Amino acid sequence: MASQDIHHDRILIIDFGGQTTQLIARRVREAGVYCEIHPWDLTAESITEFDPSGVILSGGPESVIENNSPKIADEILKLSVPILGICYGMQALVHQLGGQVEAHRGESEFGYALMDVTDACSLFDGLSDSESANAQLDVWMSHGDRVASIPEGFRTVGTSENAPIAAMANAEAMRFGIQFHPEVTHTKQGAVMLQRFVLEVCNCAGNWTPGNIIDNAVASAQQLVGDERVLLGLSGGVDSSVVAALLHKAIGTQLTCVFVDHGLLRLNEGDQVMQLFADNMGVHVIRVNAEARFMSALEGVTDPEAKRKVIGNLFIEVFEEEAAKLEGTAWLAQGTIYPDVIESAASSTGSAHLIKSHHNVGGLPEHMALKLIEPLRELFKDEVRRIGVDLGLPPNMLYRHPFPGPGLGVRILGEVRRDYANILRQADDIFIQALRAHDLYDTVSQAFAVFLPVKSVGVTGDGRRYDYVVALRAVETIDFMTARAAHLPHEFLDEVSRTICNSIPNISRVTYDISSKPPATIEWE
Ligand code: XMP
Repeated sequence: MASQDIHHDRILIIDFGGQTTQLIARRVREAGVYCEIHPWDLTAESITEFDPSGVILSGGPESVIENNSPKIADEILKLSVPILGICYGMQALVHQLGGQVEAHRGESEFGYALMDVTDACSLFDGLSDSESANAQLDVWMSHGDRVASIPEGFRTVGTSENAPIAAMANAEAMRFGIQFHPEVTHTKQGAVMLQRFVLEVCNCAGNWTPGNIIDNAVASAQQLVGDERVLLGLSGGVDSSVVAALLHKAIGTQLTCVFVDHGLLRLNEGDQVMQLFADNMGVHVIRVNAEARFMSALEGVTDPEAKRKVIGNLFIEVFEEEAAKLEGTAWLAQGTIYPDVIESAASSTGSAHLIKSHHNVGGLPEHMALKLIEPLRELFKDEVRRIGVDLGLPPNMLYRHPFPGPGLGVRILGEVRRDYANILRQADDIFIQALRAHDLYDTVSQAFAVFLPVKSVGVTGDGRRYDYVVALRAVETIDFMTARAAHLPHEFLDEVSRTICNSIPNISRVTYDISSKPPATIEWE
């Protein structure tokens, strides 16, 4: 059994559609408390079933004054546990408890604000970001409407220039409202405020720690799987790697991983994955060298989506063939993480942007007879990385940039050919090694090279060259939904370009992609 019940204390986060709702959840988890995000229109049964120790109401884009705007469920307002409303969440509390919210009259507040703490409040007591005698806090605001009068039983505890009622509290009823966003780092003491809310106000124990999460996942995998066998498609990415390490710890030799080398990996990647798992960690990994099969299936295919389909379908075919050879396998392990769960739930109710279907390349058909085990289903990416460290995976594998399932297949424009892949692998490796050598790798969110199958004229010594072009792409992004081209130093780009042209005979020109997303995407295809 796990040493601590990591789900005993639980915070319910009600999502009103704010951009930073997931950040609220991450801050709560960082404070050591389990939480889940649910849509504002969740059912009364789900609230009872969840049995929260406290509730946080998120921000959101709408106005509580408008008809049909999202509401706080009555069942939540009846709960006797603490409630914290953030931005829209505060305004909804005010509106539904008898106070007044007024529409903005051209005085919307966006960005930094200084909030004067005007009365005692357990969230702010003793905190100040200024030297002045009165406590003042740097906070991040993003609102149009504002609270005009507070409901009965509340006191105003904070005020800013454009939000005279920037924070309110009803200590007896354990209801709090803050107009600013404590979850973003621009609110300097925001993490402390959320920590105080969950640990002190809601009285949660702080059991949600990497060590306890691992113990819990190991115990539940052992219980679920019993003496049956588990199969895992290992891609070498962070999520499947952490699942491999976790299940290896839980069930040892009952786990078999299949690593499909489709010939579209980065330089030496296949060998590195094998070395790490099979050679160093004793995980049973079957490596399937399927390069020839993928290359022949991709012959003549030029459309990006068609290429994705060919690669995805073939991956599944190879995987199923391997699964059929492994007798007694009843389980299939997947590296699904919490944001995937939230996004697919939201997209099924139509309340959030759809994840692109093409990002599920490598996903498996529904008709597979295997039962699913998803040990990371409750974890955010940063939590996955943290437990990965504790499980002994090297930081450079846990903190590496994302790599798409179809691999170099979507980074070779048009037809995928083995000779193009070999050229691209070398250019990509030069770029990535240089980023690491100049300590730039961790300053960008994703970097790679793209092969352009067009020839341009160059000159070397006395001779003319007529060779291919590669583009370098490096982006900065938080959520990969939008991104900007990284401002890498010119001297650095110059060095990379020279190394590529001098050491790869078939490249005569290097360009740097300066497009943002939107309108461009991060990948070129
Ligand atoms: P885009 O190009 O859509 O990429 O701006 C956003 C993020 O998703 C990754 N990506 C993929 N991942 N299969 C994947 O597993 C795919 O087909 C795929 N296409 C894009 C991309 O690398 C970036 O991190």
